[in-house]
Amino acid sequence: MLNTIDLTGKRALITGAGSGIGRAIALRLAECGMKLALVGRGADKLMRTAGLTGRPLEMLVLPADITKPRDLDDIMHILEGHFKGLDVLVNNAGMALNCPFEQTREADFDAIMALNVKAPFQLCQRTLPLLRRSDCPTIINIGSVTAHEGYVNQAAYAASKHALLGFTKSLAREVSGEGIRVHMISPGGVYTDMIAVARPDLTGEGMIQPEEVAELAAYLVSHRGGAVIDEIRLHRKAKEPFR
Ligand SMILES: NC(=O)c1ccc[n+]([C@@H]2O[C@H](COP(=O)([O-])OP(=O)(O)OC[C@H]3O[C@@H](n4cnc5c(N)ncnc54)[C@H](OP(=O)(O)O)[C@@H]3O)[C@@H](O)[C@H]2O)c1
Repeated sequence: MLNTIDLTGKRALITGAGSGIGRAIALRLAECGMKLALVGRGADKLMRTAGLTGRPLEMLVLPADITKPRDLDDIMHILEGHFKGLDVLVNNAGMALNCPFEQTREADFDAIMALNVKAPFQLCQRTLPLLRRSDCPTIINIGSVTAHEGYVNQAAYAASKHALLGFTKSLAREVSGEGIRVHMISPGGVYTDMIAVARPDLTGEGMIQPEEVAELAAYLVSHRGGAVIDEIRLHRKAKEPFR
């Protein structure tokens, strides 16, 4: 028999919850009855997500830049005060960069590593003490097919997602004995604002929908059977061409 847990009242923190994949995950987890802390820089976008859940008063809207340590301090402070703990962390916020290798500026490299790698790393470190007190502790990092493959003009983005995969694998092993599940979902092209930046050469045709990623996130959070799933890769029906 499948070990499915009731998520009613469980608490999740989702970064980048004001758009795209993060918003879809927020809406799906809210549908399961979870209370959510919605993080991103744009307060309006987060408020819109909270409104779309139909239970805005149960959602914590936390406008923050997760590359800033002080904002992380504030997130943790408010989270502990209001939620008194945490069951699920979804590291989804990220940025893409479509730029030839030699033209990639140091500042762009630093910015992409700060958001795509360092921020999730630090959020995992900061939330682990809370997750340890949960009966269904789960971390989901949103990776990318670029965590495995190299694509033209994606050197900095691919480096960041490879790094994210590396620390996800290590952390998963390090905390598995404590019952903390750490997963990565690695999609190909998903139909969001970001894809226009990351892959301007692709049309929307055959794209993965954000709701498909959200469905998998809900599955990972609610299923705690014997099988430990480390990573799920999602490829577009129209497979990305290697260039
Ligand atoms: N779309 C794709 O094809 C695709 C494929 C594979 C993986 N992914 C990954 O999926 C994740 C979500 O991307 P998406 O496609 O849904 O794009 P998106 O709509 O652009 O979402 C990115 C989110 O990150 C937030 N964000 C950016 N900088 C931030 C910061 N400094 N602090 C806090 N939040 C910040 C943005 O909100 P604010 O601007 O309001 O802060 C936004 O909500 C990313 O990690 C991306 O790498 C996307």
